[in-house]
Amino acid sequence: MSNWISGRSKLFAEHYDLKYLGPEPGELEFLLRRIEEGGEPVLELGCGTGRNLVPLLERSLDVTGIDVAPDMLEKAREKCEQKGLAADLHIQHMEEFDLPRQFGTIYITSASLSVLDSIDDLKETLSRIYAHLTSGGVAALEFLAPPDLKKIETGAGIWKGGWDDAGDRGVITHRQVYEYDPKTQIRSSAMVFERFVDDQLQESELHTDTMRFWDVAFLEAEMADVGFTDIMTTNIFSDHELPRENTWLNVRARKA
Ligand SMILES: C[S@@+](CC[C@H](N)C(=O)[O-])C[C@H]1O[C@@H](n2cnc3c(N)ncnc32)[C@H](O)[C@@H]1O
Repeated sequence: MSNWISGRSKLFAEHYDLKYLGPEPGELEFLLRRIEEGGEPVLELGCGTGRNLVPLLERSLDVTGIDVAPDMLEKAREKCEQKGLAADLHIQHMEEFDLPRQFGTIYITSASLSVLDSIDDLKETLSRIYAHLTSGGVAALEFLAPPDLKKIETGAGIWKGGWDDAGDRGVITHRQVYEYDPKTQIRSSAMVFERFVDDQLQESELHTDTMRFWDVAFLEAEMADVGFTDIMTTNIFSDHELPRENTWLNVRARKA
């Protein structure tokens, strides 16, 4: 099972929702092109606060979301309620999700396929995705490919941070630090959140997670093993296989 905290992540969710307001430039258009290819209904794995899911619902698309963090899903629910949108959201792990219908398009954003930290979990997730796709359906999955070793090792152990103005809920400060293990290609991070109201500390929270960097050839072979065809890996938000100049990538494929 992946290492994300699935229990309390209140300040993490609040911070995430303040910092990441909606789709990045080009992101929604990329997802809409995949949905055009795969069709509806649509499923997002690790949908978080609904950053992409809500704008897709606003376009009257039939979208379901799953996530392990109740606080993240709560933010998505609140937004749907405010906008009068019906939310089909479930607390489930992507490694073992089980839903009562199949989907034309299944996607993952924010490189969240990398929350999986074991090959068994990756295989299980890919099989679950395949089983939940309709015939001809499309999967588009963002992940992290192995980084420049020198660059990631240079940043390891260094605390970075910032703060968000949460209005009448005060100021939320955050700081984070990571370690990287080149043998497992896993980055482990710790994030500390603190809420201050009138300069007084009100609450704090520790969030830990891991991200595993997947080799492109390995991931594509795992997808082929499950039965996927038309497999291609691109830069995020791009339809073209080359050039792939980032470590932040998207692998997409079709169920035959
Ligand atoms: C970086 S956030 C991305 C959220 C959203 N996809 C976005 O792009 O804004 C990663 C999300 O994955 C969720 N997550 C982590 N492990 C998961 C798992 N095993 N199954 C489902 N969701 C998971 C976290 O709770 C979190 O909401």
